[in-house]
Amino acid sequence: MNAAPHPRTLILGIDTSCDDTGVGVVELTGGRVRVLANRVWSQTVHAQYGGVMPELASREHVERIDAVMGDALAEAGVTVDELGAVAATSGPGLVGALLVGLMYGKGVAQALGVPFHATHHLEGHIFAAASEAELAPPFLALVVSGGHTHLFDVPREGEYVLVGATKDDAAGEAFDKIARLSGLGYPGGPAIAEAALTGNPDAVPFKEPLQGQKGFDFSFSGLKTAALLAHRAGASAPDLAASFQKAAVHTLVKTTRRAAEATGRDTVVVSGGVAANRALREAFAGTGLRVVFPGRGLNTDNGAMIALAGAAAITAGRAPGTLAEGAEAYAPLAALAPQA
Ligand code: KG4
Ligand code: ZN
Repeated sequence: MNAAPHPRTLILGIDTSCDDTGVGVVELTGGRVRVLANRVWSQTVHAQYGGVMPELASREHVERIDAVMGDALAEAGVTVDELGAVAATSGPGLVGALLVGLMYGKGVAQALGVPFHATHHLEGHIFAAASEAELAPPFLALVVSGGHTHLFDVPREGEYVLVGATKDDAAGEAFDKIARLSGLGYPGGPAIAEAALTGNPDAVPFKEPLQGQKGFDFSFSGLKTAALLAHRAGASAPDLAASFQKAAVHTLVKTTRRAAEATGRDTVVVSGGVAANRALREAFAGTGLRVVFPGRGLNTDNGAMIALAGAAAITAGRAPGTLAEGAEAYAPLAALAPQA
């Protein structure tokens, strides 16, 4: 790994990919990172529609980003001219929403004359775990959020090989949908985890998805249908929550463990909103693998994780992007060629 270009670089990270306006500040010193600030404004305007309204999300990012930026700088105890690099999410996500953070970040970088790193949202989720432990490839990375269930092998810096993904719903989406049908509210993940504490995890039998598969994919639609039938048959919300959580955790951990055995990796990063789930963390702790989770507040979408991905790119000596980079709604996390 190359040394950082400066002894201490303050990196601003911005994520406006969906309905959270996130700005964070990370300090990079000789290859080591420290999160100095992580501020997120979660938009509530969408609740009345039962889903994220893209146009409203963009507008609200525009209205909020300056204030969130000010709060992040204040939390970090730094002024804007101390920043040495800017990283902002360029995709994937809602294009109008992405553009707000991307343009704002470019503006800050240009005004300060510092490097700008257009950053992949999933690389941000993965490097959120760098807040807790040094992350040096090779490792496996399981990203489980409301929009993604992706399992990557990371053989070397900047190279991401997709070894498994969901065939239907994302893991977080399944938590959200089952919480909604049980009347537990939104977001469903924390609500299911809470209700599960008083439920019986063996009350509702769930069939393991994709049992016997040779690959490392995931599927949650069968669990969702089984949950609907159990709900109609009178299963209580806590029993349904506990049983579904057990089944979801089982399939995530079992498939990841098999992928670790197949690839020979002994370190696994588990990140994204669902990585906040305590039962999932406990199950991974029992695998014997070295499992690294993001620190508090870094599982769900945020700006600090984008700054951490920027820090990894700087440490690896990757060239910064140009100010011409645009927002991409669909952007696979393929090989990001490392620079010499
Ligand atoms: O990473 P994130 O903020 O958004 C996306 O990029 O999609 O993840 C949000 C998802 C939601 O589906 C939410 O229900 C889930 O993460 N989540 C959880 C927990 N906390 C959040 N799922 C299970 N258990 C939790 N404790
Ligand atoms: Zn996300």
